[in-house]
Amino acid sequence: MTTATQEPAAQGTGTVTIGGDLTVRRIGYGAMRLTGPRVWGDYPDRARAVGVLRAAVERGVNLIDTADVYGPHTNEELIREALHPYPDDLVIATKGGFVRGGPDYADLGAVGNRNYLRQAAHMSARRLGQDHIDLYYLHTPAMTDVPFEDIVGTLADMRRSGLIRHIGLSNVSADQLRTALAITDIAAVTVQYNVAVRENAAVRRLADEAGIVFSPWHPGELPGEGDGDLFHAVIGPIAAAHHATPRQIALAWQLHLAPRTLPIPGTTSIRHLQENIDAGHIHLDADEAEAITTLIPEEH
Ligand SMILES: NC(=O)c1ccc[n+]([C@@H]2O[C@H](COP(=O)([O-])OP(=O)(O)OC[C@H]3O[C@@H](n4cnc5c(N)ncnc54)[C@H](OP(=O)(O)O)[C@@H]3O)[C@@H](O)[C@H]2O)c1
Repeated sequence: MTTATQEPAAQGTGTVTIGGDLTVRRIGYGAMRLTGPRVWGDYPDRARAVGVLRAAVERGVNLIDTADVYGPHTNEELIREALHPYPDDLVIATKGGFVRGGPDYADLGAVGNRNYLRQAAHMSARRLGQDHIDLYYLHTPAMTDVPFEDIVGTLADMRRSGLIRHIGLSNVSADQLRTALAITDIAAVTVQYNVAVRENAAVRRLADEAGIVFSPWHPGELPGEGDGDLFHAVIGPIAAAHHATPRQIALAWQLHLAPRTLPIPGTTSIRHLQENIDAGHIHLDADEAEAITTLIPEEH
């Protein structure tokens, strides 16, 4: 329980509204890591995994990102076990259409078949214990022989039927996002984007122009040794000035970029969870943000 004087830590982070009616705080939680090795099977310490999910919600996180392929299925089942019955304001975003032939990362594929996707959304809702999915992402448009326009049409039908409330797209190009926006309403887009990985900058900019939520994955990731020297030379002093970690600065930078950016950092640690939430309270000034943005030239 929280009171007015003990509000959850995430409440100061500001909010974004998904699809015009689902308002969530700007630091979400990505649950993918709460699975077995290589995102296959159950997380080995179930009590810890349940504890991290409950801590996230207790501390004010109200957007959780998952997918049917995480486990597969075990991640959605875990979320239900940890959090059902859900708080009214909790939004669970899940994804479908991406499949794995086994624990080896090499066995990856995708299915764009209309009935497969509808069945996948029904099964995600069943596993999550919900009668519909608030935000349903197509996990990837790659590796399927179904035309992208047809898949978007299927998602639009799923929304019209009430099976899903809002449509999201994951791992799309800017051209694909533009194509989809011409077909139907898209509420959110999620792609890899962080201080070191900028290939999807055009998607971020288009999402901003279109007024839709941009949810970067691996949002706080920093480059490792070697390549990381330049980043740490720039981000290190900014972190010191804010009494923050470099990773927190990387998240604060995401929030600075656009008002509808919704990072979904993942962690298996409550201490890291708290640090990630606290990053939402860090306000970079324009010069600090620019110094990080210009570390890598972004294509226009
Ligand atoms: N749409 C897609 O195709 C796609 C692909 C990948 C991921 N995602 C989504 O994006 C989410 C985020 O990705 P991710 O789960 O890989 O998480 P992440 O935010 O990229 O980082 C996770 C890694 O960073 C560490 N970490 C997290 N917070 C930290 C902190 N404050 N300080 C130091 N280390 C920290 C974690 O270790 P600890 O566990 O020890 O904290 C873990 O090793 C996923 O959960 C998933 O929901 C989507």
